[in-house]
Amino acid sequence: MLIVSCSHGKHLGPLIAKKSNIRHSNLHVDKFPDNELRVRFDTNLKNKNAVLVQSFYENISDCIIEAILAAKTAEELGAKKIILAAPYFPYMRQDKRFHKGEAVSQVIITGLIDKYFNAVHLMDPHLHRKNKLENIFKIKPKKLTANNLIAGYIRKHVKNPVIIGPDEESYKWAKNVAEIINSESIILNKKRYSSYHVKIKLNKKISLKNKNAVIVDDIISTGHTILETAKILKKLGAKKIYCICVHGIFVSNALSKLKKAKINVISTNTIPNKAAKIDVSGVIAGSLKN
Ligand code: R5P
Repeated sequence: MLIVSCSHGKHLGPLIAKKSNIRHSNLHVDKFPDNELRVRFDTNLKNKNAVLVQSFYENISDCIIEAILAAKTAEELGAKKIILAAPYFPYMRQDKRFHKGEAVSQVIITGLIDKYFNAVHLMDPHLHRKNKLENIFKIKPKKLTANNLIAGYIRKHVKNPVIIGPDEESYKWAKNVAEIINSESIILNKKRYSSYHVKIKLNKKISLKNKNAVIVDDIISTGHTILETAKILKKLGAKKIYCICVHGIFVSNALSKLKKAKINVISTNTIPNKAAKIDVSGVIAGSLKN
């Protein structure tokens, strides 16, 4: 087996390789003057199982094209099996036609991965209406989770925590993390009006006096879900507000907005960012062993 870091996998590829004791190499990626991508392997792939590590953030479209160019090339160079290890995999939230005429992008993008890879290992994919990776991919999928690491972080750093899930979809993270640390959890209701406009509601009366509220979610993108949730938690008397996510995308200065609202933000390192304090490389390394 060989681990190859693609352009957006370099922050994790070497750590995964070290922890799994598998040889590591970088994919060389550059661009022609007109922005076309050029990828090149500088290692022998013949008869090897090649694990391509790529996290799909920032220029997501380039990340996808790069992974496909690399996978097809690995096959041509004789790789036995080509596995995608994606710390963050995109397009999972677009799992239905929300508006007339709209693409169901999840199906289209995962279809591309099916065509060029033999297996996928995804860290905390956003599963909602289709709640199993097996119902989405035709190739062999593995769903990995950072929930144990998040639970460990809370246990070590937060006294008297109450775990908050900001919307119905977040229970897979919030409720599960609360169960691991044996604490109370509350799942709120969210209505999304647009990318930057959400409303959060709490259906029952509770008090968070003397408690530290820890919002747990899979993704923070614009941060508005968390900002709105925090307003409610403050009114309920929470001592401190923490927010822990798996994938810190943090667009439009989200991280500064959250800090300004006095929210302690922590994320894993599936996407490199200033709040990334939880390392998921061990989970990915473990998944490659069995
Ligand atoms: C969606 O349901 C996800 O779990 C997140 O809650 C959502 O993507 C967060 O988006 P934003 O930070 O833009 O509110």
